[in-house]
Amino acid sequence: MAKPKYKSQRRPSAPSIAKRPRASANGQARPRENSKPPPEPLPERMVWKGARLAERTSMVLETEATADYALLDSGAGRKLERYGDVIVDRPEGQALWLPALPQSTWDQADAIFTGNTEEEGAGRWKFPKGNRGETWPLAFDGVGFHGRFTSFRHVGVFPEQAAHWHAMQTAIRAAKRPVKMLNLFGYTGVASLVGARAGAEVTHVDASKKAIQWARENQLEGGLQDAPIRWICEDAVKFCAREVRRGNTYDIILLDPPAFGRGPKGEVWQFFEHVPLMLDLVRQLQAEKPIMTVLTSYAIRASSFALHELMQEVFAGMAGRIETGELILRQEGGERMLSTSMFSRHIGEGVDV
Ligand SMILES: C[S@@+](CC[C@H](N)C(=O)[O-])C[C@H]1O[C@@H](n2cnc3c(N)ncnc32)[C@H](O)[C@@H]1O
Repeated sequence: MAKPKYKSQRRPSAPSIAKRPRASANGQARPRENSKPPPEPLPERMVWKGARLAERTSMVLETEATADYALLDSGAGRKLERYGDVIVDRPEGQALWLPALPQSTWDQADAIFTGNTEEEGAGRWKFPKGNRGETWPLAFDGVGFHGRFTSFRHVGVFPEQAAHWHAMQTAIRAAKRPVKMLNLFGYTGVASLVGARAGAEVTHVDASKKAIQWARENQLEGGLQDAPIRWICEDAVKFCAREVRRGNTYDIILLDPPAFGRGPKGEVWQFFEHVPLMLDLVRQLQAEKPIMTVLTSYAIRASSFALHELMQEVFAGMAGRIETGELILRQEGGERMLSTSMFSRHIGEGVDV
C-alpha cells in the first residue's frame, strides 16, 4: 500500500481555505475588523507513490428518457425537457444545432427560463399556461423528491447523474455489508437519498443552508425519514480535513464541486485551485475496501483527461481501476446526445458496475 508523503515545500499556488478579506466597492481589501483567530491553514498537497491503476478513458455514460425525466429536444442554445409532468424550456450553451421538433412542440412548455436579470427568484421564469407554484413532485427510480424553479435556472436535480446513481445503488446492494457513503457538495440530496434507499449510511455535506433545507424536505418527500442520513452544513474541504484527523473512512464518496462556491463562513472554493487538495483528502478517507469515488465537473475549462490524471496520481498504488469520460443525456427518440459534464471515478477491486 502506498504511503503518502507530505511535500516538504509549499508550492507557490498552494490552496488555502482561509477566508479571504472581501474586496470593498473600490476593489481595495478591507482591513480586519476584529481580532478573530487566524483561519485554519490548509494541509499541504501530498505525494502518492504506487503503481498506476488499470484505466478506461473516453467513456460515455448515457441517461435515456424515462417516465421521470426526458430530454425532449435541444437546439438554438436551448433545451426542452420533461421533469415528471412539467415541460421546461431552458438555455443550453452546448446545443449548437437547430431544434429537431417543431415550434408547436416547444410551445407546450409549462415553464420557460427567461433569464431576465431585472427580476428576482421565480420571476426569471415565465409560465405560459399559468403559474404552477414554486415546487412540484419528481422521482428517480422510485425515490421521490421535489423540483423547484430557482433563479439560477436549475430545478434541483441534474438528471444525467442518474448514470452514477444506478451504478452506485447496484454496488451498494451487491456489497451485502454495511456501506458508508459521503456526498460532498450534495446540493438537494437526490444522490444521498438514492444511496440511503439502497442501504448505505449517508453523510451529506453542503455549504448552503437553503440546499440542506431542500434536501431534508426531499428526505420526507421520498418517505426516507428513518433512513440514516446526516445533513451537514459546512465547507466541504474543512469537513474532509476534520474527518481525516478523526480517522473516519467511507466506502463511497461522491463529489460534484462547482467551478466556484463559498463555504458557510465565506471559505472560497475555486475548482482549479482546490480540487487536487480535495482529492488528497478523499484518498485519505478511503475505506479498506472502497466501492467507488466519483468526481464530476461541470467546470467548462477542465478536460476529462485532467481529471483522469489527477485521479491516477491520488489513487496510485490502490487496487481497482480509474474510469473517465463524459455524462450525456440521450434525447428521447434515441438520436441526439447532449453532453453535460465530465467525470473520473475510482471503482474498487472486484466491484462490478
Ligand atoms: C451540486 S454542486 C454543483 C452543481 C452543478 N454540478 C453545477 O456545477 O452547477 C453545487 C453545490 O455545492 C455547494 N457548495 C458550493 N461551495 C461549497 C463549499 N465550499 N463547501 C460545500 N458545498 C459547497 C452549493 O451550495 C451547491 O449546493
